[in-house]
This record gives sequence, C-alpha cells and structure tokens, in this order.
Amino acid sequence: MHKAPRGTFDILPQEYAYWKYVEEKATSLCQLYGYQPLSTPIFEDAQLFTKTVAGGTDIVDKEMYIFEDKSGQELALRAEVTAPVCRAYIEHGLFNLVQPVKLYYIGPAFRYERPQSGRYRQHHQFGFEALGEADPTLDAEVIEMTQQFFYSLGLSQFSIQLNSIGCKLCRPGYLEVLRQYYSSYTDRLCADCKTRLVKNPLRLLDCKNASCQEIAKTAPKITDYLCHECQLHFQSVQKYLGAMNIPFQLNHRLVRGLDYYTRTVFEVEPRAKGGQSALGGGGRYDNLIEELGGKPTPAVGFAAGLERIILNLKQHKIDIPALPKPDAFIAHLGEEAKIEVMKIASELRKTGISVITATGDKSLKGQMRQANSSGIAYALILGEQEISKRNVMLRDMRSGEQKTIPLAEIASRLLNEVKQP
Ligand code: HAM
Repeated sequence: MHKAPRGTFDILPQEYAYWKYVEEKATSLCQLYGYQPLSTPIFEDAQLFTKTVAGGTDIVDKEMYIFEDKSGQELALRAEVTAPVCRAYIEHGLFNLVQPVKLYYIGPAFRYERPQSGRYRQHHQFGFEALGEADPTLDAEVIEMTQQFFYSLGLSQFSIQLNSIGCKLCRPGYLEVLRQYYSSYTDRLCADCKTRLVKNPLRLLDCKNASCQEIAKTAPKITDYLCHECQLHFQSVQKYLGAMNIPFQLNHRLVRGLDYYTRTVFEVEPRAKGGQSALGGGGRYDNLIEELGGKPTPAVGFAAGLERIILNLKQHKIDIPALPKPDAFIAHLGEEAKIEVMKIASELRKTGISVITATGDKSLKGQMRQANSSGIAYALILGEQEISKRNVMLRDMRSGEQKTIPLAEIASRLLNEVKQP
C-alpha cells in the first residue's frame, strides 16, 4: 500500500473550501496593495539557498532537500521563496522597472522537519515581496498588509512581534557582545546552542530549550547596539505603524530562522499557542539581491504558511463559504432516456448550468440518493413517458416539489430557478 510521504498530505475535496478561501483572500489583498503575481520553479540550483540563505541556519544545514539530477547538477527543492523571487528579479532585469517592484506568490516549499501539527515536509506559503526600496514606509506597509490579511480571513487572535537586527555595520559588534555574554554559560547551553555560539550566535536568542531561554532573558538587546541609521530606520517603522494604529510588540529576542535579514524583522504569533508556532514572518533583506549577483537592492517582504492558517481557521470555527455544488442532477429510466440525458446534459452545460448525470444502472431511488448526497438543488428525471411527450420532470430536492415541463424549456427554467433563486 502506497502512502503519501511522511510530512506531506493530500488535499481532499472537502478540505478545498479552506484553501480556496485563503487563496482568494490573499489574491484580493495583493490586488488592493498593488502586488503582482509571480511563480518560480519548485526546484532551483542548490547554491541559491546554500550560499545566500546562508549556512549555520537549521533550514540550510539540516532541512534542505538537495539532490543531483541526471546531468550531475546539484538542485534543491525550494525551502522558501524569497531567494527564488530575488533570483527572478535579477534574471529578468526587473530592476529596470519603476521601483519598488511588488510581487506575490502562493505555492509549496519543502523542509525536512520533524512532522507535527502545523509542521510539514511540504507546506504552502503565501508571500509578498517589495524589491528596490529602502524607505521604512514600505516596512510599515508590509506589516499593515500582514495584519489586514489575517483580519480579512476573520482571524484576530494574534500579535505582531517586531525587532530590528541591524545591518552589516552594526551587527558584528553586537554579535561579539552576545558571544561574550554567552561564553560564561556554555555548560548550561543545549548541544545546538553550543554550535550556534560558534556558527550563528544570533540564533542563540530564540532557542526553545528551557535552560537556554532562561539565559536569553537577560542577554544584551540588539536594539541597544544599532548604528545611527538602523536606529532611525527602526524608529520610523514604529512611527508609521503608530500612525496607522497597528499594534505590535517589541521583542528583542526575535531573530528569524533565515540568515538574510537586515534591520526590520517581524512575526505573527497566534495568541493561543498549540503545537504550532508562527503563522507567518518576514522582514527586510537589503543584502540578499547583491549576494545573489545583482546590484545593491534593498527589499522587504513576508510569508505565511497556509496549513497553519487553515488550522487556525478551524480552531476559531471561522465560517468558510462552501465550494459551489453542481446546479442539477439528471436521472433516467431506461436506455432510451439515458441517451437523451447525455444530449440534455451537454446542452445545459453549454448554457453555463453545471450538471452531473446518473451513470451505470442504478434504480431511480439509487439515483435520487446520489443527487441528495451531492447536495444538488434540482433533479431532472427522464423516463420513457417524458421522452414520448418531449417533457421532463423537474424536482426541487429541498422541498420535494415536482413539476413537468417541456424539454425545450429546461435551460431557461433552470437558468431562472438556479441562477436567480
Ligand atoms: P519562514 O518564517 O521560514 O520565512 O516561513 C514562513 C512561514 O511559513 C512560517 O511562518 C510558517 O507559517 C510557514 N512554515 C515554515 N515552515 C513550515 C513547515 N515546515 N510546515 C508548515 N508551515 C511552515 C520564510 O520562509 C521567508 N521567506 C519569509 C519572508 C518573505 N521574508 C521576507 N519575505
């Protein structure tokens, strides 16, 4: 028996209403803020991630799906979409357009993580990126857009955590201070943090281990070590957020799991903590495009995981519009009627009425049971008698009311009843 690989799942029809709902909210949000859609391949040259998303992060060190294709080229399933968007921005000369270029995407990403509720090996991200502008209004707009996205879904039980992690100029000084602070606690650090202390000290701050969290509580704050420009930028972001009445919590231990961030970082934390963590996260990445071979280009963006959003929609019992059902079901009695049904169904579909027909040789009762379980509002029943009189029986499945109508009028009657009930 084959099963979906561990950490992946099928999206069955009854689940699809959630996916459609989230995708529609995402698309109309992007329309509202002037973002355009972009799709990138699900696999890329492995170095796009290993070189720039940077070593020392768990994602690159432990979680990437890397493989060689038949020509020996090293490829990786994308672990996230920001680096591919930047690659596309450079490759297609989007820097020649008026800046910022605003793009969004919805699609799968792959991380070899330990599966649990809200954590999968294939997950789906909705993300948006504004490339080519350093203005802090854009950081604030991206955060506002994030807030509005969750509100539009009907989710309000979250907080926006905000921090600045400085730039190439000021961060090294802070990392030195952080290393010194942690060096007196090495015996109390978990194994991962001992490595982080050498390879990626910033990640010491968000270790989930209880003993490491205690040490992080009194660690020096990065915001006390920002250079003047980074400080001004961070103050401006907060000023714009304040002006737009967007609540946020300053969190000096927020550092994010990818290494390309500069200055603003933020995360959306659900209020009720379950097995899952952030609903989404983002920030500024002013060096990434240059590191990928482009000109120095500031950028900022955000991405959220669709699976975690859907878990939250279910947790909060948010009403989701059902997927549309077919308009009508056509039942038949006898072989001659079956041929007629095929013709009628074909004609009705051409007028835009969605139809399913009974197949096989179920009894009329069995066919009606099928119509009922499909949740269809109207059934057409065609027997020998109806054919000879060029009539059809129209049954309202909710009231059970039946009437006989001429075959030639079905399309107009259904259009009237179904499309404008
Ligand atoms: P990230 O925080 O690594 O950021 O992922 C974004 C979101 O994807 C997470 O907040 C979470 O909701 C979801 N996610 C991540 N991993 C998993 C998983 N294994 N299972 C289920 N959901 C998951 C990024 O990927 C950045 N590219 C975001 C960004 C865009 N920064 C700037 N622009």
